[in-house]
Parts: sequence; C-alpha cells; structure tokens
Amino acid sequence: MRAEGTYVDCTAGFGGHSELICQRLTSGRLIAIDRDPFAVARVKERLKSFACAEVIQSDYGKLARILPELKVGPVDGVLIDAGVSSMQLDDPQRGFSFQVEGPLDMRQDTTQPLTARAYLAACTETELTRVLRDYGDVRPAQRIAKSIAKRRERNTLNTTFDLRDAVCEALPFVSGTPDEVRTVFQAVRIAVNDEYAQLERGIRAGIDALAPGGRVVVIAFHSGEDRIVKNVFREESHAQRTFLADGRIASVTPPRLRVLTPKPVTADADELLDNPRAHSAKLRAAERLAGKEAA
Ligand SMILES: C[S@@+](CC[C@H](N)C(=O)[O-])C[C@H]1O[C@@H](n2cnc3c(N)ncnc32)[C@H](O)[C@@H]1O
Repeated sequence: MRAEGTYVDCTAGFGGHSELICQRLTSGRLIAIDRDPFAVARVKERLKSFACAEVIQSDYGKLARILPELKVGPVDGVLIDAGVSSMQLDDPQRGFSFQVEGPLDMRQDTTQPLTARAYLAACTETELTRVLRDYGDVRPAQRIAKSIAKRRERNTLNTTFDLRDAVCEALPFVSGTPDEVRTVFQAVRIAVNDEYAQLERGIRAGIDALAPGGRVVVIAFHSGEDRIVKNVFREESHAQRTFLADGRIASVTPPRLRVLTPKPVTADADELLDNPRAHSAKLRAAERLAGKEAA
C-alpha cells in the first residue's frame, strides 16, 4: 500500500477493511462505499477520527459515476468483499436468514422498493426456476419454484419461515432442513439485489479507475461470484482482437491487467478459527498494467 495513495473500499460493511486501510494512510484518501444505510451509519461512526475517509451510501456498480463526482482521479486500490455481511445475516428484520423468522425482505439497500416478498410475488415460475438454477445451483429448481408459486397463490409467502417451508414441502423425502433451503435463499437474495450485474460492473469500473500499478482485489463467497471475477480478470489480462468481415484482424487492444493470483487465496486454519464464515471465501487480485507494458 502507498501511505499517500487513494483507495476505494466498495463494500465497507462493518468498516473492518476500511479502518485497516485508514491506519496505513498518511496523506492518502479512502472512499468507503456501501449500499446499506445501516452499514454506512456504523462505518461513519467507526471512521470519524480519520480525516482521510469519506463514506458514501451507493452501489459500487455505479463506481464510474461516484468517483468523478468526488473528483477522485486514478486510484491505487479497489477492494470488493462481495455478498452479505454478518450484520445483515444476523438481524431477523432484514430477512436474509432462514434460521430466524422475519419478513421476506433481503434488501441490502433498504431504500430500494423491491423486497424479496415483492420479487417472489411478481416473478413467473419460469423466471424463478432460472434464478434458482443460475444463482443457487439448485438442482430440483422447477419443483421448488412450483412449491413457492403454490404458497404465493394461497397468500402464505410472507416470512423467511414461509420460504423455508415452501422448499421443505417440495422435498418431503429429505429429513431435517435440506441444503436447498440455503441455496434458494442465496439465489433469491442475488436476484433481489441484482448482485451479479453489480459485481461485474463494479470490477470493470474499478479496473478503469486504477492508476498503473494499482490493484483490484475481490473476495467472493460462492462459485457464481468467483466465476465472474475469474472471467473478467482473464478477459482483461489478454489482448482483445476485433476482426474484419474477411477474417483479418481489425484492431488489437493490449491487456490491461496482470493477474497476481493464478489460484484464489483461501483462509487458513487460524483465520477460520477467528472467522468461520470465511470458509468459502476466495480472494483474487490483479494489477493494472502501465501503458507501455500493456502495448
Ligand atoms: C461481506 S460484507 C463486507 C464486510 C467488510 N469488508 C468489513 O470489513 O466489515 C459485504 C457488504 O457489501 C455491501 N454490498 C454488497 N453489494 C454491494 C453493492 N453492489 N454496492 C455497495 N455495497 C454492497 C453489503 O451491504 C455488505 O455490507
């Protein structure tokens, strides 16, 4: 890290990463972003003694707008710690967890109109089947989508336990809570918060914002997120060619990134003892190439 550099923490959460960055800055600047107004309030409080920190409530998918508005030039680092925070998961009123009863909400940005309940009330069974498959790798997706649709017709799909029960009803032969409950909650949450589109847009805008030698670091928590990170990094670390109709090369855009983690970094045993939720975390990092290296 450069003590006089500019860094962007796209997912401030509790402010843990942001605080560590601030502690290493002398004359630098940290932009901390979160879409959750409750997280933003906490991070503002946590970072109030650091003059270098600006805390913003927004989607990091809008980074390409946020940074010019703040008159932030090329940056030295962009961090995305994707997904949901413990603070969101552990609050029953936020509706993210199937283990406690609460309203079917799941919004990270609580000012957004679309809740999980509204989403499930409006989407077609076909769309829901696709979402469960694509965002949760749910195998019996059609069966579960049908069961959810049945509950919504009976107007009994209002709480986290209602959604959990709809999944259990679709799989009566499984004893206990089927693993599909977790993956259905994950899929619905990703759809409600448009997480995959935001992630791809955020990484691309982050790369655009980097100064030569600047780094983008992304922590993903499941295979769908990690696939997006891997694909964007792979694409940006290779030259892009466009072709004429007769097959000749029209243009070659040089690579913009050097991937620093050929394999993702995972948490070691000590870290897992401290933070068991890190067991599925995968960190990937890449460095922006200088113009002449890229050419
Ligand atoms: C895993 S937590 C981050 C924890 C944080 N690194 C810390 O040190 O406490 C993820 C956070 O990212 C936020 N988030 C998720 N998607 C976002 C998006 N598209 N734009 C802004 N914030 C987002 C969530 O609201 C949540 O607070």
